[in-house]
Amino acid sequence: MTDKLIIFDTTLRDGEQSPGASMTRDEKLRIARQLERLKVDVIEAGFAASSNGDFDCVKSIASVIKDSTVCSLARANDRDIARAAEALAPAANGRLHLFLATSALHMEKKLRMTPEQVFEQAKLSVRFARNLMGDIEFSPEDGYRSDMDFLCRVLEAVIAEGASTINVPDTVGYAVPELYGNFIKTLRERIPNSDKAIWSVHCHNDLGMAVANSLAGVKIGGARQVECTINGLGERAGNCSLEEIVMAVKTRKDYFNLDLGIDTRQIVPASRMVSQTTGFVVQPNKAVVGANAFAHASGIHQDGVLKARDTYEIMRAEDVGWSANKIVLGKLSGRNAFKQRLQDLGVEMQSEADINAAFARFKELADRKSEIFDEDILALVSEESVVNDNEQYAFVSLKQHSETGERPFASVVFTVAGKEVLGESDGNGPVDASLKAIESHAKSGAEMVLYSVNAISGSTESQGEVTVRLQNSGRVVNGVGSDPDIVVASAKAYLSALNKLQSKSDRVAAQG
Ligand code: KIV
Ligand code: ZN
Repeated sequence: MTDKLIIFDTTLRDGEQSPGASMTRDEKLRIARQLERLKVDVIEAGFAASSNGDFDCVKSIASVIKDSTVCSLARANDRDIARAAEALAPAANGRLHLFLATSALHMEKKLRMTPEQVFEQAKLSVRFARNLMGDIEFSPEDGYRSDMDFLCRVLEAVIAEGASTINVPDTVGYAVPELYGNFIKTLRERIPNSDKAIWSVHCHNDLGMAVANSLAGVKIGGARQVECTINGLGERAGNCSLEEIVMAVKTRKDYFNLDLGIDTRQIVPASRMVSQTTGFVVQPNKAVVGANAFAHASGIHQDGVLKARDTYEIMRAEDVGWSANKIVLGKLSGRNAFKQRLQDLGVEMQSEADINAAFARFKELADRKSEIFDEDILALVSEESVVNDNEQYAFVSLKQHSETGERPFASVVFTVAGKEVLGESDGNGPVDASLKAIESHAKSGAEMVLYSVNAISGSTESQGEVTVRLQNSGRVVNGVGSDPDIVVASAKAYLSALNKLQSKSDRVAAQG
């Protein structure tokens, strides 16, 4: 007898809370579609009441996703809950996720509420939510550091009010596996109506144990839902990583004896999409999705794998969506071949006009780069979604001069609200000069807090993918740009970050 482990993805909510990881509505929609292809059970699409932008994102995702449940976070108050329910109205299957802190520290210092007030609010908020929607999840924030007796009282009451999923967050990543597993077990044993709810784990990675803690919650505690994010994206050290949880449970079915609904071949495409969209590069030695995860460098290992794959491999690369890094298209490829490749890569374009625009950019790239890899196409379409948005700033062309012993100089032509402008500047290097040239005109005053370059497909012929993180008035955004010329990629990344700074409105921060 096996039972199912529910995969609840919170890349678009808890993942997005990571400084710089904020995404536009179109980016979120693209990722939500990929999560649906991955067949995650629940997509937490955002925190609808936190801003009008988040409300729109949740609503748009709820309108297009049919196979996964779409969820919105809400604080445990009527206004947040009503707003979340409104955003979720178009969903085929919607879920309200209410949270309220229950640890003594959070109740006293953050909420300034007594335990009795928290108890009442938790109960009444679930009652209110239950009248709006059938599927209610409740999270006692900082649950793992809460007093056991008090937590049992609160959770028993919210289950009685109709919460069908109880999620126990280790909000600050303080747990260790055995203790966290036993914590969930104790809750389930002590709460009389615990069998009326599905138990869920939500672990942060501050001590590097989010995955281990979540697995202990499942194995020891009997939890049947794991909350996680693609690439472990999330605030501070991140959340529990979806790809690691899924592949651990699948590869060690002998131990966990659980079924999953996930299409694991969509894991690597999802990882790439999230990384390219947010600019959070995946470390090469990251389990499952890192570039080296299936690379065997030592001669002994290579020899072993050639003779019998399972000598050194416990998973198959193709099962998690690594395709051979083959040349897929070149400058002679036609529109149909390009369209087919997009489909094979799981990229859905909204309209023929979008495909035409992406194809024109593909042709432009193919003129400059003879071998076009899957990674190039994914980078191109993720840029396309930015360019398509009628953004404030768009790159046009760049000229720069650099020579040993001379100070580099750059001229950059870009559009501001559709009108071409020219920025010029010198700088410490060609990249510095180009970004200063843009800034000389844009005058954003933003501070650059990160600049990184990554070769999309490994060699010097590859496109460079640049991430620029800008900070302005307390807001942090990442811009990503790609091009065979890394100076141009840098300029595109800078303009993309400026666009994000422009479009993001302030929002209420969700917790943990
Ligand atoms: O970490 C946390 O406590 C959270 C809750 C809002 C579920 O993300
Ligand atoms: Zn969290």
